[in-house]
Amino acid sequence: MKNWLKGLTLSLALSSAALATPDAHAVDQFTDYLKTQHHFAHQHIDGADVLVLPVAEGGLVLPQKWSDAAKQIITDAVALEGFEGKQGQFLELLALPEFYAKRLWLVGTGTELERAAAERIGATLASKLSDKMNTVVVHGKDLNPNQIAAIAHGMDLRSYRFDRYKSEPAARPEYTVHWHGRDEAAAKAAYALTQPVAHGIFVARDITNLPGGDGYPKAIAEMAAEAVANYDIKATVYSPEQVKELGMGALYGVSQGSQHKAHLLVLEYQGGAANEAPIALVGKGNTFDTGGYNLKTSGSSIVRMQTDKAGGAAVIGAVMALAGQQAKVNVAGVVPLSHNLISGTALLPGDVVVTGDGTRVEVVNTDAEGRLILADGIWFARDQLKARAIADIATLTGSKARALGTDYAAIFSEHDALIGAMQAAGELTEEQVWQLPLGPYDGIIDSWLADVQNVGSPGAQAGARFLQHFAKDTPWIHIDMAANAYSTSAKGIHPAGANGYGVRLLSEWVKNYSDAE
Ligand code: BES
Ligand code: MN
Ligand code: ZN
Repeated sequence: MKNWLKGLTLSLALSSAALATPDAHAVDQFTDYLKTQHHFAHQHIDGADVLVLPVAEGGLVLPQKWSDAAKQIITDAVALEGFEGKQGQFLELLALPEFYAKRLWLVGTGTELERAAAERIGATLASKLSDKMNTVVVHGKDLNPNQIAAIAHGMDLRSYRFDRYKSEPAARPEYTVHWHGRDEAAAKAAYALTQPVAHGIFVARDITNLPGGDGYPKAIAEMAAEAVANYDIKATVYSPEQVKELGMGALYGVSQGSQHKAHLLVLEYQGGAANEAPIALVGKGNTFDTGGYNLKTSGSSIVRMQTDKAGGAAVIGAVMALAGQQAKVNVAGVVPLSHNLISGTALLPGDVVVTGDGTRVEVVNTDAEGRLILADGIWFARDQLKARAIADIATLTGSKARALGTDYAAIFSEHDALIGAMQAAGELTEEQVWQLPLGPYDGIIDSWLADVQNVGSPGAQAGARFLQHFAKDTPWIHIDMAANAYSTSAKGIHPAGANGYGVRLLSEWVKNYSDAE
């Protein structure tokens, strides 16, 4: 394995744990990802680079001990700039007289500071911190422990960098934040619960960002197995031969034209009763999508198709988040991994493949490969793992991207409990979802030649209906996250590149659904 891939392993430096965690399963530091630190203790810091004062709307109260001269300047500046404490408002004051920090940042928290908004405030802080600012104090007396944790989490999410392909990467952010609040121990515990989520998101971003030449099926399976090594997760990797032996001909077929053959990654976490069937998350891990012989012929359609594994990456990150939080649920992540390339051995349009459940599929279009590999992933979850519910997630169709754009993912299901749990998870995490219909669309994937064909119209619905065929009567929901996975510029809690979309949506969905059952 390449050396820099090894660097992805999380080091569990318990001794240097500035951030104690509630248990041995939760991680305490991301030495490979972040050079930042959060301290939760009431400790006076002199000469800080930045003092952050969160201000509720219309609620600016300056601490009494600050000098009158400083208070006057702040009050004048607030009036001049029209700073009212509205959510996201920001005001910087430099070199205040008789002040114990070099800068004062006022940040508006609005009237009610919900989790996602608090994370965004953290992202704003992280984006404004230059590498010359190392010591930050946050005066969090008016925030509750969960709000403090969410702001710290937002700072972490924004501070991730995928810079391993740069010959001279810019310096990583390197700051220490001292959080002062009403109950620092509670803030620290709440923050510790966000850490496996951040780690899961970082791994998902790494996996999604990795170019197709380096991030082929076997490499991704190994990366994932290494990433979860310190978690209470059992990782199993099925080789191309095993994929074939198990009868997963659709998964095998998509990769058969590449030197990098198909793999199946299965991650199992048992936080619930031993005899309880798992909830399965099935994620599309197509490590590059050329389209196959239905080649993506325009540069703009083929570029960045290494991100076609973002659904699989989200599943890996979500299982990590749940395991790290010791969620009381049994969950299985199933990630079919393929490399959709062309050669003399590649699938041809019109070929027929046979899936794990024996369905014969006419491959009318080799570019509709996601549903082929997911068909076998869903079959594996249902038939081999006996899942009690299944969510699949995939960068599946351009049709979805045209309908809903980059902010919403499309969801499809006939099960209200699954839909409700997903919508609630979407609202909490701001990984927004929008339901599209599954039918009737009679005959949408009928094939004259075989049992079903892999394309139909409308496109996103045909993909969903195709997958439904393999879920049979297991409660099932499909998430089409095409175009949600990455952006070439930073936005909010996400730096440029892959954003880890789906890690939080899926992990919150699993918790919501198992609680509601
Ligand atoms: N991975 C693509 C879908 C995609 C397109 C994701 C753009 C992100 C951005 C998928 O495998 C695909 O090629 N879908 C085809 C299916 C069609 C051939 C039926 C599509 O949607 O065009
Ligand atoms: Mn495709
Ligand atoms: Zn694809």
